[in-house]
Amino acid sequence: MANVVIVGGQWGDEGKGKVVDLLCPAFQHVVRFNGGNNAGHTVRFADRHFALHLIPSGILHPACRCLIGPGVVVDPTALLGEITALEGQGVSVRGRLLVSPRAHLVLPGHRALDVAREATRGAGRIGTTGRGIGPAYESRAARTGVRIGLVRRPQRLREAVAEASRELELSIRRHEGAAVPTADEIEAAVAAALSLAPMVGDVSLALAGAVGRGEPIMFEGAQGTLLDLDHGTYPFVTSSSVLAGSAAPSCGLPARTIDGVLAVLKAYTTRVGAGPFPTELTDALGEQIRRRGNEFGTTTGRPRRTGWFDAVAARAAVRWNGIDAVALTKLDVLDDLPEIPIATAYQTGGAEVTEFPDDVADLAEMTPVYEPMPGWRTSTVGITDYERLPELARRYATRLEALLGVPVVLISTGPRREETIVRRIAPLARWIPQPL
Ligand code: IMP
Repeated sequence: MANVVIVGGQWGDEGKGKVVDLLCPAFQHVVRFNGGNNAGHTVRFADRHFALHLIPSGILHPACRCLIGPGVVVDPTALLGEITALEGQGVSVRGRLLVSPRAHLVLPGHRALDVAREATRGAGRIGTTGRGIGPAYESRAARTGVRIGLVRRPQRLREAVAEASRELELSIRRHEGAAVPTADEIEAAVAAALSLAPMVGDVSLALAGAVGRGEPIMFEGAQGTLLDLDHGTYPFVTSSSVLAGSAAPSCGLPARTIDGVLAVLKAYTTRVGAGPFPTELTDALGEQIRRRGNEFGTTTGRPRRTGWFDAVAARAAVRWNGIDAVALTKLDVLDDLPEIPIATAYQTGGAEVTEFPDDVADLAEMTPVYEPMPGWRTSTVGITDYERLPELARRYATRLEALLGVPVVLISTGPRREETIVRRIAPLARWIPQPL
């Protein structure tokens, strides 16, 4: 029994949805602690395919209680849409989902401002998901935001939304040609928020009760370490704290609540949006990996940039998060390749660098130093037993373990839940004593 944080160790889209879904049977509570519907988790089970954005992946497990913490920004229209879509697929949501009253609303004006700013930035754009996430967190920090708890006082909610929308409109109008939300769109957001009222309740209190009863909690991270507002590739980052250390405190629990940190890392690297990406492949090989790995965004459908595994960045992720173990995803995507390089350092101005820089201008000038690993050139699709992996595939995983200093406890060999190698070794065996 353990409380575990699951974080993305790269630039997001590492396959956290599948890993969270796989581990859910070992947890009674699954809580989202950051981001909003900029996240996209794809979960495939048998022939069914679920795309989740705001609701924790635990919702697909009837025994799991799902929570949305105070650090999440909630677009009420998007959340309502997701609830309705899940219910349409036979998944019960109401009664199992608790949303913190402290979570801030993403309003239509936040979305419009996000889109307007990106359009104005032109070539200098961040490549946001256009979901209004940055502006919503700005309102929160500026103390002009609207918290979802106001649904318990509809009149005050309407006033607060009107006031915030007026202020946002001033910012939107600074961008030529930008669309300002209509009164109907704003009213639809208020109506959606009000319909969520029965699901609003004290997440901190609920989780503290779970801790007291010894019921294990999974903290489900969104985005990835290199998109963290403080430690990521600023300004090409998201606007929330992504790191494992923020998980418990942002939910109103002491940091010591956490027993372990599992990072999900893809066997290669992808990134959506702009910003430096040292190991990027802009050639036919990059395209081959994109196609084979189906690297197109769950949220926006954008093609993802692809590249080799970056151990410099991943080592920084280990240090920043306190990662105890790794889930390595999409290993099978590399099956055909004759050689698989791993970046173990960067080269800049004739010097070799082994620490991830704080400034993106420096990062943009760095070229990777690669250690070539031989490819296994045989299918690993669907393998569930570590010993049955081709020897060279095991060598690749072992090399990553050595470079990162933490064990690889899960390996994903296909998109389905059942296409996974679960290694019953420490610390996974300690966190989850029973077989999944
Ligand atoms: P925002 O979070 O929409 O403001 O976008 C900021 C940056 O984070 C952009 O580069 C996005 O592509 C990226 N981003 C946000 N959420 C995700 C995610 O869930 N996966 C991958 N990238 C993301």
